[in-house]
Amino acid sequence: MTLNLDLSGRTALITGSGQGVGHGLARTFAEAGAEVLVNDLRAERAEEVAAAIRAAGGAARAVPFDVTDYAAVSAAVADAGPVDILVNNAGNAGPDGFGTRGRFADSEPAGWEPFLRVNLYGVLHCTRAALPGMEQRGWGRIITIVSDAARTGDAFGAAYGASKAGAAALTRSVALESGRHGVTANNIALGTMRTPMTEPLWAEPDAPQAKAILSGYAIRRPGVADDLAALAVVLAGEQGSWITGQTIPVNGGYSFAL
Ligand SMILES: NC(=O)c1ccc[n+]([C@@H]2O[C@H](COP(=O)([O-])OP(=O)(O)OC[C@H]3O[C@@H](n4cnc5c(N)ncnc54)[C@H](O)[C@@H]3O)[C@@H](O)[C@H]2O)c1
Repeated sequence: MTLNLDLSGRTALITGSGQGVGHGLARTFAEAGAEVLVNDLRAERAEEVAAAIRAAGGAARAVPFDVTDYAAVSAAVADAGPVDILVNNAGNAGPDGFGTRGRFADSEPAGWEPFLRVNLYGVLHCTRAALPGMEQRGWGRIITIVSDAARTGDAFGAAYGASKAGAAALTRSVALESGRHGVTANNIALGTMRTPMTEPLWAEPDAPQAKAILSGYAIRRPGVADDLAALAVVLAGEQGSWITGQTIPVNGGYSFAL
């Protein structure tokens, strides 16, 4: 058996890859040989990331759209040509960068909307747009970036956790429906990462909230994009073909499952 991490000949759409985890995955997938479609809400960031990948010798195109707008998503996917690999990464954790901290009993429906629109509807939209082409070609990989909140619950971030759990459940359904057409679908469930999303936590003097969170981790540092890069390439590649419907934690040992 030969280890094969080559994504040459594949096109990978990575949503929200203008910064953070998605940006890291875009660079890794390009290094592995994929053509990367760099999506972000912010067109200029998508262009910058795609240009940097090309400057480093990779293949990338900017494909800016808002994942919450199904018409825009489906038009962009149709224009882009075949999408072999979809990474549903774009996410919203609220204005404080770490879920909107508050008791669900005190919350209002308007506060749930941003989480559901990006983290659940965004994943529904992109998956719906990319899946038929994958099935027709008999090959596809879908990786959805969720959170440990989808597995363990999220005290004071209930709507965020619910949105991620909904996306994770979609993955399992797609895995069941589309496996016979050569499509796999998996979730990567992240613990606390140090990215622009969570920067407010680390920017506080001595970062007391961040330290309190990390005290529950076996490995007491936040994650970085490199921590999931190799796993994502395996799931996206030829040798990921029998791994489907799974939620794989990359979480510094925050939680364990049998
Ligand atoms: N950072 C963490 O601690 C953490 C923990 C668990 C899970 N996650 C998940 O990992 C993923 C990446 O997180 P990150 O920390 O890199 O986030 P980030 O906020 O740093 O980056 C997210 C990117 O998505 C883009 N984006 C946001 N809404 C969009 C939309 N509607 N359409 C298109 N693009 C959009 C943003 O412009 C940004 O470039 C998210 O799904 C997040 O929920 C992050």
